[in-house]
Amino acid sequence: MSRFTPKFLVPLLLAAAPAIAAAGAPYLDQRHVEPVRGDAAAGATKAAVCVACHGPNGNAIVPAFPKLAGQRAEYIHDELLKFKRGTRPDSPMTALAMPLTDEDIGNLAVYFAAQTRQASPQPAPDTAVLLRGEALYAHGEPERGAPPCQGCHGADANGPAAGPDHYRAWPSLRGQNGEYLVQRLKNYRDGKLADSSNDFIMHGVARTLDDASIQALAAYLSSLPPTAP
Ligand code: HEC
Ligand code: HEC
Repeated sequence: MSRFTPKFLVPLLLAAAPAIAAAGAPYLDQRHVEPVRGDAAAGATKAAVCVACHGPNGNAIVPAFPKLAGQRAEYIHDELLKFKRGTRPDSPMTALAMPLTDEDIGNLAVYFAAQTRQASPQPAPDTAVLLRGEALYAHGEPERGAPPCQGCHGADANGPAAGPDHYRAWPSLRGQNGEYLVQRLKNYRDGKLADSSNDFIMHGVARTLDDASIQALAAYLSSLPPTAP
C-alpha cells in the first residue's frame, strides 16, 4: 500500500482485491497514470459530433448525460479507452469511441478539460436532502462503512488535490448533472462497471450507499456552482 494511501481507504482497497483477481487480467490498470498530451484545437474539431449529447463545449443540457467541460483530461482519456473496450454497458459511447485513435482520444481529452464548466438549472432544492448529501460527501457514514467522498474527490469536489500520479484519473464531480450521477453510482453499486482498477475502488464505495444516499449525494453535487479546478 503506498505511503500516500489515506488510512480510511485501506479496507476499501483490500476489499477490491478479490474482485480484481476474480475478474482476471486484462483490466485497465490505473495505478500509474501519465499526463495526457494532445492538441486542443484538433480536439475541438473532432468534438463537433460530441456536442449533440454533451452540449456546447461539453456542458450537457440533458441531465442524464455527463458534462465533460472542466473534467480532468486523464479521466476523460481513460473513460474513452474503457468505452472502446466495450465494457461500460448500455451506452451509446461504445460505438462512438470505437473509431477514435489514441491521438483523437488525447486531443478530445485535452480539449474538454480546458472548457469552462457551467451550472445547470436546478430543481427547487429540498434543504434536508442537500444537507444530507453535503454531510455524506464530507464525512461519509461510518456506521454503514461509507467513506467520506472528499477524501478522494477533493474538498471542493473538483478532484483530489496534488498527490501521487494516479490521482490524475480521479474525476471532478462538482456541478455534474444529477441524473447522470445517480445512474453512475447505481451502476458501480450493482457491479456493472468492472473493467479497471478505479472501477473496483468505486464499486467498493458504492456498495455502502442505499438509494436515498445516492439521491442526496447527486442532488448536493449537482447543486454546487462550478469553480475553476
Ligand atoms: C448519442 C449521444 C452521445 C454522443 C454523440 C456522445 N456521447 Fe459521450 N456519453 C453519452 C452518454 C449517454 C454517456 C454516459 C454513458 C454511461 O454512463 O455509460 C456518455 C459518457 C461519456 C464520457 C464519460 C464521462 C464521465 O463522466 O465518465 C465521455 C468521456 C464521453 N462520453 C465522451 C464523448 C466524446 C469525446 C464524444 C464525441 C466523440 C461523445 N462522448 C459523444 C452520450 C453521447
Ligand atoms: C477511495 C477513493 C474514492 C472514494 C472514497 C470515493 N470515490 Fe468516487 N471515484 C473514485 C475513482 C478512482 C473514480 C474513477 C472510477 C472510474 O474510472 O470509473 C471515481 C468515480 C466516481 C464517479 C463517476 C464520475 C463520472 O463522471 O462518471 C462518481 C459519481 C463518484 N466517484 C462518486 C463518489 C461519491 C458520491 C463518493 C462518496 C460516497 C465517492 N465517489 C467516494 C475514487 C473514490
